[in-house]
Amino acid sequence: MKLTVKKGDPLKQKTPCLVLGVSEGKLKTTLLQQLDKQVGGAFSQATRSKEFTGSKGDSLLLYAGKGAAAERVLLIGLGKEPALSLASLRQAASSAARQLAERQLGSFLLGLALVAVKKSSLAERAQAVAEGALLADYRYDRYQTKKPGRPLALDKVGLLIGAKESLAEAQSGLAAAEAICAGVCFARDLVNDPGNLKSPEYLAMEAVRMAEQVGIKCRLLRRAQLEKQGFGALLGVAQGSEREPYLILLEYQGGNGEQKPIALVGKGVVFDAGGISLKPAEKMDEMKMDMAGGAAVLGTMLAAARLQLPVNLVAAVPAVENMPSGTAIRPGDILTSLSGKTIEVLNTDAEGRLILADALSYIGRYQPRVVIDLATLTGACIIALGNHAAAVLGNHDGLIRQLLKAGERSGERLWQLPLWEDYAAQIKSDFADVKNTGGRPAGTITAAAFLQQFVDDYTWAHLDIAGMAWDEKGKPGQPKGGTGFGVRALIEYLRGDVK
Ligand code: BES
Ligand code: MN
Ligand code: ZN
Repeated sequence: MKLTVKKGDPLKQKTPCLVLGVSEGKLKTTLLQQLDKQVGGAFSQATRSKEFTGSKGDSLLLYAGKGAAAERVLLIGLGKEPALSLASLRQAASSAARQLAERQLGSFLLGLALVAVKKSSLAERAQAVAEGALLADYRYDRYQTKKPGRPLALDKVGLLIGAKESLAEAQSGLAAAEAICAGVCFARDLVNDPGNLKSPEYLAMEAVRMAEQVGIKCRLLRRAQLEKQGFGALLGVAQGSEREPYLILLEYQGGNGEQKPIALVGKGVVFDAGGISLKPAEKMDEMKMDMAGGAAVLGTMLAAARLQLPVNLVAAVPAVENMPSGTAIRPGDILTSLSGKTIEVLNTDAEGRLILADALSYIGRYQPRVVIDLATLTGACIIALGNHAAAVLGNHDGLIRQLLKAGERSGERLWQLPLWEDYAAQIKSDFADVKNTGGRPAGTITAAAFLQQFVDDYTWAHLDIAGMAWDEKGKPGQPKGGTGFGVRALIEYLRGDVK
């Protein structure tokens, strides 16, 4: 898809379809009244009959008359004005792009950024609209031997801004969207890739390829190095699988040499069968997505490099497969982690926290200023927040506040859960320093409390993205499958941090 910015009078644009946003109740603006004339009164007819009110999710496609420049006009309801946000624009753009692509229209003009949004710049509005279109165009069809004809792949999409607005500013928003969406789509692809293809080694090779593409450093720790250095928790999870474990390490230097890095850590369980504590068969297929935290980290590194963000970043993705077998760890086994702390494994299905424990210890060597980990860590998180927000927990309220704000602005919502010391009592072990499950109560929090045992004295936040990494049904801008959740929020956080 080719995205370009245009400026001028919306009613004078030659295009197969002009897309405009309409706020609920704001049906009589000058623009809409002029538009109504071009479509022979069809708009006022539709509003009078309440067929179109401008409420969220509303849409109306009209064919323009002879005097009009555009062949069609698609109106998208934005909902009530006070609630209008960048997320509304992103959703409207996705919905429009999706509808037009379903109708075999791949070229059109989005006038959605013409709408003013409180506390946001033109660049941000342009970015939101471009993101909506780019993400609506995403598909994973590499294993469909007959490519589906619908929805049509988008071809030329224009982004219309007002006659007096800055072309350069809108273009910078569009360029940001392209970099970010490349990261999101890379993450989605990795999550959607099937387990038979997606070994830890495959994930490592994809990271190497991406790093070469954007010119950042990538280093892999293989079994021999992991053994030598004492990654006992990571190796414990890996020992049930025939596939070799990897620790994927990436470095991006966008800041000056002395600047301490921000570290990103992502869970990379390429398939989580549960191990000896085997999962039920139902929906086990979805556990190919258990590397979504790692995918989000890889996607963020790609986007950060493309954006040339002025920060230093390091990333660690522990990649393993969690399988039951004769060599797998057993419930009751005790592992010695990289930190030296011993872990009693009561449930082999609580494997994510084991590999993250070692990755969190290892990342301390970079003397990071901040560490953020992302993981599809607990089913309990889906019970708590459903599929509407990821949980955020950590040891520093300032960092959590920044992340919450970035989540809100990017449209990738986060919600804080407490991490009071009291919860640590649930993971005390009778036989080792700590155990890997804390029972059913507060499962997301006790998982984070477990991770905290392996966090050095750095500033740290943990994002449990279990409910957000995979979309079971799909919606406009998001087909069923991997979502790439986390890339947009992390980039928003990183851009905000350096502003
Ligand atoms: N990968 C799962 C968590 C998960 C479940 C993510 C559903 C996405 C959707 C994780 O490894 C796991 O199995 N967690 C266990 C922990 C329990 C054994 C303490 C869980 O949540 O049941
Ligand atoms: Mn598990
Ligand atoms: Zn898992």
